[in-house]
Amino acid sequence: MAVLTTRFTETFGIEHPVMQGGMQWVARAELVAAVANAGALGTLSALTQPSPEALYKEIERCRQLTDRPFAVNLTVLPTVKPVPYAEYRAAIIEAGVTIVETAGSNPQEHIADFRSHGVKVIHKCTSVRHALKAQQLGADAVSIDGFECAGHPGEDDIPGLVLIPAAARRLSVPLVASGGFADGYGLVAALALGADAISMGTRFMCTEESPIHHRIKERLVEGDERGTDLILRTLRNTVRVARNTVSGDVRSREVEGASFDELAPLVSGLRGRMVYETGDPDHGVWSAGMVQGLIDDVPSCRSLVTRLVEQADTVIRERLAGVCMRTPAFAYE
Ligand SMILES: Cc1cc2nc3c(=O)[nH]c(=O)nc-3n(C[C@H](O)[C@H](O)[C@H](O)COP(=O)(O)O)c2cc1C
Repeated sequence: MAVLTTRFTETFGIEHPVMQGGMQWVARAELVAAVANAGALGTLSALTQPSPEALYKEIERCRQLTDRPFAVNLTVLPTVKPVPYAEYRAAIIEAGVTIVETAGSNPQEHIADFRSHGVKVIHKCTSVRHALKAQQLGADAVSIDGFECAGHPGEDDIPGLVLIPAAARRLSVPLVASGGFADGYGLVAALALGADAISMGTRFMCTEESPIHHRIKERLVEGDERGTDLILRTLRNTVRVARNTVSGDVRSREVEGASFDELAPLVSGLRGRMVYETGDPDHGVWSAGMVQGLIDDVPSCRSLVTRLVEQADTVIRERLAGVCMRTPAFAYE
């Protein structure tokens, strides 16, 4: 098995420079443990659990499925119903989790509290300025989501090809590149651009252990890179979702100037959750990335991670080394 060692693998004690980002309704114990057992960093979604107590139990359940380290994602975004973030944070600390992925609004109080309890923090954001701020607040690493990503790409619309090196040039902590990754080619590209690891959402969502209906996985396999919509742009809370009848409806209503209250029933999280449970892709809006254009199968997490790392190793040793060797030979011909 190939071994790729980076500042990410060394800082977090993970075998491969590969992470699974937190995913609402998807990143539950069975997926996260499978990712961890494959030697990558799995991340439980804290807010998928209905209460801090339920999260504590889910962390325990994950521990029964793996003895490897895993992370918990805490996403801080505007919500209709207030979320007891401090209590979720306390449950994570009490459960003895050693790595957290924070995402969303200003992570200051979360980073301070986690770090004072010896928990390492990877802060996920979508701009260089927020990455620098997180580093200044004490984040141990930054994950940067390019415009390609599923979920919240931010409002700047900077794709990874520019965002990753722009962040790498300015940061000193390890950098995780996120958004649009699915294979070893992407991993090598991210490393070449200055990142220390990749994080994947949509790709891990489409694995055997991902706890969602198989019809949604099939939909991702059938989909191509054009199969997403950006919704809620008019509210400056943009979300990249799988293109379906509901996302089309939301977009048309946004053009007509609909308010949040008018859009809320269409974009409700509960409807999105039902998509994963029933396998009906048109039941609500659900996050998915452009990277579905690079997804052709539903492998186990182990075979996905192994294939990805082997592929990266081959690209580096054969394709890139070959490119380096041909240049002088060509020059002296
Ligand atoms: C179904 C789904 C749900 C997601 N939910 C969250 C979430 O709750 N919090 C978060 O920080 N990111 C969330 N994300 C974003 C991922 O963690 C990751 O940043 C993103 O998927 C990377 O882009 P990719 O899908 O192209 O790999 C979600 C992504 C997907 C596909």
